[in-house]
Amino acid sequence: MEKRERIYEGKAKIVYNTDDPDLIIQYFKDDTTAFNAAKRGTVINKGIINNKISTRVFEFLSSQGIPTHYERRLSDREMLIKRAQIVPIEVIVRNKAAGSICRILGLSEGMELAFPVLEFCYKKDDLNDPLINECHIRALNLASEEEVETIKRYTLKINALMGKFFANSNLELIDFKLEFGRYKGEIILADEISPDTCRLWEIGTGKKFDKDRFRHDMGDIEEAYQEVLSRVDK
Ligand code: TMP
Repeated sequence: MEKRERIYEGKAKIVYNTDDPDLIIQYFKDDTTAFNAAKRGTVINKGIINNKISTRVFEFLSSQGIPTHYERRLSDREMLIKRAQIVPIEVIVRNKAAGSICRILGLSEGMELAFPVLEFCYKKDDLNDPLINECHIRALNLASEEEVETIKRYTLKINALMGKFFANSNLELIDFKLEFGRYKGEIILADEISPDTCRLWEIGTGKKFDKDRFRHDMGDIEEAYQEVLSRVDK
């Protein structure tokens, strides 16, 4: 397998072609953004750490029967993945209230939710990834009814699996964001799963081990991400 030209650069990753039409490489950068890139920064080694954490999580989810784009980790910052066509929806699951749901519904951070909350956002940077519902998804032809049902089924299973996975590392999965893609007619889990895309609080102390440390200038970001890696990489 040979690395070829760069095809896309996002906020945290760069994507490269390979000589295999079915496979591409995602390269994890140290760049970080928040609030739709209104805030920008760099976290030393974040790309290396997130590539390794994402590898562990995707290997675990694959082993539990979730179809994913993950093929293998190639190097510190590179992961070989299937070339999926990304469904332009961010799928968010919330187990406790934090972040935007607190602002939108006036909830206090850490409030227990009696049931996991599933949200969809339209992946459109110039609109700030607005919250949408299943009617919008159908009306705008973002995904078929069958695809939405598959995405919801996988997402709830992934929530249960990831909740246990992180609890084994004494971390509580507060919320997270997933992206899915289409590959050879099937829906598969795509993108990355890392402290950039999950809120993880230490069980017992409530200490934050995720991107909120960057969003809210809490410091020790690299140390927190590294600690998540050490705990899941046992
Ligand atoms: P939110 O509370 O800001 O809506 O974020 C919910 C979860 O989704 C949180 O774990 C962070 C993650 N997330 C992303 O991965 N990318 C994003 O662009 C946003 C807004 C949130």
